[in-house]
Amino acid sequence: MERTLVLVKPDAMQRGLAGEVIGRLERRGLRIAAMKLIQIDTALAKRHYAEHEGKPFFPGLVEYITSSPVIAAVLEGPNAIQVVRNTVGATNPVEAAPGSIRADYGLERGRNLVHASDSPASGEREAALFFSPGEIISWARDTDRWIVE
Ligand code: RTP
Ligand code: MG
Repeated sequence: MERTLVLVKPDAMQRGLAGEVIGRLERRGLRIAAMKLIQIDTALAKRHYAEHEGKPFFPGLVEYITSSPVIAAVLEGPNAIQVVRNTVGATNPVEAAPGSIRADYGLERGRNLVHASDSPASGEREAALFFSPGEIISWARDTDRWIVE
């Protein structure tokens, strides 16, 4: 069972697409293990996107992700990392597969609506950045056996 951190980014929040983003992932079968509305400050933004520090787009990225409250969520399921990355689509919406969130709602890389962890290690690291251990709940749904064999 993998965990991934999803952020509904400021553009999606401002456009009223939070329910659409979370709903698509929930309908896919993933289980919500944690979720909250949070205003990311500069320090958290820099920690979250530490791998990109020093790149030309980094200042704009920090400004973007701190520009409005976001919804942070931990989603659980088999292959959750790859499943969510596929449903979210390629970083640049121009290249995202039709039917993915970024293709259906986005036009530019700098306004691409959703963050999703890119590896199991990133999922664990990022989940711990946004949530304390007690805020992440591993629970069972009656429907799980109809989603996972
Ligand atoms: P994210 O981390 O937000 O889920 O996006 P990602 O994995 O698909 O892409 P990543 O390479 O981690 O980049 C993080 C965010 O930085 C912006 N970006 N701009 N101008 C550029 O070359 C460039 N490259 C990346 C995007 O907003 C991307 O989501
Ligand atoms: Mg990334």
